[in-house]
Amino acid sequence: MSLPRSKAAILERFGDRLQADRAKHAPDWLVGWHYQQVRAGKYPADYPQDFTRYEGPADLVRWFNWGRGAPVLNYLPLDRLKPLIEQAEARDRSVLERLGIGVEPPVLRAFALLDAQDYLFPRLYPRPERHRLRRVLDFGAGFGRQANLLLALEPGATYVAMDAIALPYCLQHVYLGALAGGLADYVEEGRFALDDTATGCHHLPTWRHDLLPDGYFDLAICSQVLPELSPLLAVFVVELLRRVLRPGGVLYIRDHGAVDWNPSGIELARYLEASGFWLEFRPMLRDRVDLHGLPRIWRKPEA
Ligand SMILES: C[S@@+](CC[C@H](N)C(=O)[O-])C[C@H]1O[C@@H](n2cnc3c(N)ncnc32)[C@H](O)[C@@H]1O
Repeated sequence: MSLPRSKAAILERFGDRLQADRAKHAPDWLVGWHYQQVRAGKYPADYPQDFTRYEGPADLVRWFNWGRGAPVLNYLPLDRLKPLIEQAEARDRSVLERLGIGVEPPVLRAFALLDAQDYLFPRLYPRPERHRLRRVLDFGAGFGRQANLLLALEPGATYVAMDAIALPYCLQHVYLGALAGGLADYVEEGRFALDDTATGCHHLPTWRHDLLPDGYFDLAICSQVLPELSPLLAVFVVELLRRVLRPGGVLYIRDHGAVDWNPSGIELARYLEASGFWLEFRPMLRDRVDLHGLPRIWRKPEA
């Protein structure tokens, strides 16, 4: 367990580790961000534009500001959501304070709402105790926001952030380190191990997926990620998540769905069905009208 590195040191480590692992573990198709590469140079002005660069913890604010562009849509009951939103926002504020960054309240609000919704959806209806969601893999984790409420509300939870892109990887390192008071990071330590005693935050680049144990996770999260990957990588990720989820485990997907926005042209539902996942929950909602991003729950069959 190491304390987070500040400034650009972690970026250097990331580059060195990628270089060292390149030949054996990290082919281009696995470490690319298909959508961003195709659309290079066409982002909105406040979007962090160069994902290979990381200037320091203040880059988190740019990412938070990017969330403000998303419309605040919600049909879920506020009496359930409000305490979660407030908790997520307060925790984010104290993370930023620990990093020496002060922000105005609206900066944090959009992600606090998303955090609350994403915490609630996979837990909306009663499930048997064996379906408890304590071990969580967040694939394409952004800055690691899904750890916020998980660590606060699930005692003994294990959160693993996985990413392959330099800027988000560094932001995850800094955010998760400050949120949890330290994290186990493959890029920092050159090793990675998860066993039955593991708790807290862990961090692994996509290209070392081989270090994830079979059948370990209760929940895998892909929020606004899969349609941005190449079809080759999306199929690979679906297979990977099936391998590392335990029988009965949940794959929670939230994005704009293949119909509305699918820049990489993936056939996600077909990949998931072919891989043996069952669709358990898909609300009949309108994306960008009722909610920003449609939540779906796919389950790996129990036996
Ligand atoms: C639109 S962001 C969504 C971030 C986060 N899931 C959220 O909801 O806040 C897409 C994420 O996918 C990640 N990503 C892109 N290519 C990836 C790859 N090859 N392996 C893992 N993550 C990748 C990006 O780095 C980024 O963190």
